[in-house]
Amino acid sequence: MGIVKGLTCPKCGREADSRTIFQCASCGVALEAIVDIESLSKAQLLEIRSRNDPTIWRWFEFFPVEKRSAIVSLGEGFTPLLRCPGLCEKIDIAELYLKNDTVLPTGSLKDRSNAVALSKARELGFKTASVVSTGNAAASVAAYAAVAGLNGVVMVPEGTSPSKVAQASAYGATVLVLRGDFDRVAAVYRQAVREFDWYDCLSTNPYRNEGKKSYAYELFDQMCERVPDWIIHPTAGGTGVCAIWKGYNELLRLGWISRLPRVVAAQSEAAAPFIAALQNGSTDIEPVIARDTVAESLQVGNPKTLGFRTLKAIRNSHGTAVALSDDEILTAQSVVARCAGVFAEPAGAISVAAARRLRQEGAIRRDELVVCNITGHGLKQPQAIEIPGEELRPIPAELGAIRERLESNNEKC
Ligand SMILES: Cc1ncc(COP(=O)(O)O)c(C=O)c1O
Repeated sequence: MGIVKGLTCPKCGREADSRTIFQCASCGVALEAIVDIESLSKAQLLEIRSRNDPTIWRWFEFFPVEKRSAIVSLGEGFTPLLRCPGLCEKIDIAELYLKNDTVLPTGSLKDRSNAVALSKARELGFKTASVVSTGNAAASVAAYAAVAGLNGVVMVPEGTSPSKVAQASAYGATVLVLRGDFDRVAAVYRQAVREFDWYDCLSTNPYRNEGKKSYAYELFDQMCERVPDWIIHPTAGGTGVCAIWKGYNELLRLGWISRLPRVVAAQSEAAAPFIAALQNGSTDIEPVIARDTVAESLQVGNPKTLGFRTLKAIRNSHGTAVALSDDEILTAQSVVARCAGVFAEPAGAISVAAARRLRQEGAIRRDELVVCNITGHGLKQPQAIEIPGEELRPIPAELGAIRERLESNNEKC
């Protein structure tokens, strides 16, 4: 079982005396769950590595869930790792891999976190799980809460993709669409969590944040223990960056790997607080006003709670953060679909835009091993695809008309 040693503040180091308070009373940052992997015996570790479980729960002892009976699983994990020659050629990186998280149970990376978060909610005896979200976390919490037998309450800002709202609602959660941008809605959400005593599944939740360590464990397996030179992650709150870094550090401590990857945060230039903080040399982020972007899932200007840890992970890994324009993001979305057959929402494909930029700038070499996490399905935000008007206009059911249309559409990878 994943024994939780405690919840500790990553900033001041103070340990919390409760397992259900998620933020440091003095620093305000999200606490970190410390899972005791050091006391696992050699025999236990060998057994874990030879387990034949095709979900993240193969690594049960690495997560902060103490009873197997509490596990809520929809079969999440071990998503395909794809290498597509056409894409490698296009981006000019010989070994570029896509980690395709669009195929997770609710279509986004959030399932890695919420499988762990909702399992812990059951273990702790909560009745209602909640989240505020740009859409994907809402759908994911709603699904896992439903299967866990908990009430789900999810809040999203107005303007969130209707397909994400519909998905969350289909799982039976109470969906609240609130006026204002994400950061405004998040402020009200925090008041509601205190008022109604919900189990908070936001990135403040230290248990939830451990779920994305599974990226490191899976890549370790899927790459036959090779460590990528670079892992590029679409970034909003910073959960993924922190967890990937933590997961790889655990593997290093166990002696299973001998070096660490560089971690890159890919952000939209409309909401890029991590880039600003790295440029200013600050250890904490300064909130920005997030502007509209096609990468709607990343439209977060104030990722304060994990900001400190995320910046530390990027710096310690000798990684970086990249701000991408909407044009670059949409191009990446199209390239990922046409060259690799993966239909991602714009935010989900931003990692490939970052790889392209870093390669063009010479930061990434052609012969380096690069993994881009593709984090959300394209059907989550179908309105981002511009279908040429001509394609939607019906044509006569005749071979001549078909030939004419075929000749006008020759675009390939
Ligand atoms: C599709 C997608 N990718 C990436 C993220 C970034 O999440 P984080 O920075 O918390 O790992 C989100 C979430 O907000 C998302 O919905």
